[in-house]
Amino acid sequence: MSEELYRPGLEGIIAGETEVSTVEQDSLAYRGYRIEGLAEHASFEEVAYLLLEGELPTAPQLADFRKRLDQHRAIQPEIVETVRMIPKSVGGMDVLRTGVSMAGHFDVAKGDERPALVERAIHALAVVPSIIAARLRLLDGKEPIDPKPGLSHAAQFLYMAFGKAPSELEEKLLNLTLVLYAEHEFNASAFAARVCASTLSDLYSAMVTGIATLKGPLHGGANEEAMKLISRFKSGDEAKAWTEEGIKNKAKIMGFGHRVYKNGDHRARILEPLMADLARERNQQAKLDVYFAIKNTVFDRKQIHMNVDYPCGLTYYLMGLPIDIYTPLFVASRVSGWAAHYIEQYTNNRIIRPRSRYVGPALRDYISVSERG
Ligand code: ACO
Repeated sequence: MSEELYRPGLEGIIAGETEVSTVEQDSLAYRGYRIEGLAEHASFEEVAYLLLEGELPTAPQLADFRKRLDQHRAIQPEIVETVRMIPKSVGGMDVLRTGVSMAGHFDVAKGDERPALVERAIHALAVVPSIIAARLRLLDGKEPIDPKPGLSHAAQFLYMAFGKAPSELEEKLLNLTLVLYAEHEFNASAFAARVCASTLSDLYSAMVTGIATLKGPLHGGANEEAMKLISRFKSGDEAKAWTEEGIKNKAKIMGFGHRVYKNGDHRARILEPLMADLARERNQQAKLDVYFAIKNTVFDRKQIHMNVDYPCGLTYYLMGLPIDIYTPLFVASRVSGWAAHYIEQYTNNRIIRPRSRYVGPALRDYISVSERG
């Protein structure tokens, strides 16, 4: 190769063009709409429509979109039976990877034109909360609950998981985290999904690729790890002492740091005050003390900011959700971003096939087994 451009982890490399979102130090925007405005005003369904179709929906378009989501929410008995057969010890993301793969066998559209791709995306989006809720109930020895048409994406999940309509506050907070999690440019899982799309593989395969990639603790798995960390300490002092020692020993503190953001993550800043209000309302000041002790110590000692997974882990905990579904709930949102990337790549494609720099042994001759020492 004459011109060689290489950076570990592809840091700073422009790996493609996108109209879906922009991630900058001073702004995050989905199709040109700043995250602050969307977080304050939009339902997750509006955001998902925006990502998939490029524009915010009109009232009739939104009603139609919600209706189509509702039409796809019920999962086939075969999917329920598959989820039932998975050993109880298997984690939520692994179950979801299997469940979404299985849902792909019940394709809802014909052909590969844009409308068919969007319909598959809506199907994939609709079944994720149903699979997570079914798994939760089966683990608890209960049967899954049928979806209730008319509920929001957030409320639908809470209804199917717990069998009762959520409070206004719970629905609002879950909706907010779904809006914040929906899309984030060329992050690892979206990029992996785009690589899959670039081979002209199907949309469900790309969603499974996204789930498998998001699962890792350096990516979406961090919201679960962050909450496990917060849960280890009884007081802010204890958390501070551990964090200081951890930083000295070069430990990775989950929920902190970001490849792009060096001055803080817009999404974390939006979520934190609402999470803190919820903590006070639920008399969980001790958890909040631990949260701020870790956050302040990481910043004082390393000048590293929290990312969205840090306040999100505690938000879900305060809502009473089990830790194992925090990253699956990230998927319940991010399918919208992955699908938008899938469609963008698939409909304007060139296969993604970079080069590597070879650093192995120099060329050498084959030696037969009998002559090898
Ligand atoms: N805890 C402790 N030190 C850290 C952390 C952290 N969470 N994050 C970065 N650092 C350190 C690095 O070790 C490095 O230190 P050094 O210079 O002494 O070697 C320095 O900060 C710079 O790291 P970066 O080059 O900025 O990190 P990179 O871009 O390679 O990785 C990543 C980004 C993976 C997010 C990293 O910060 C990390 O592992 N964080 C913890 C996991 C996490 O929270 N992931 C969620 C990301 S957001 C999302 O996926 C929704």
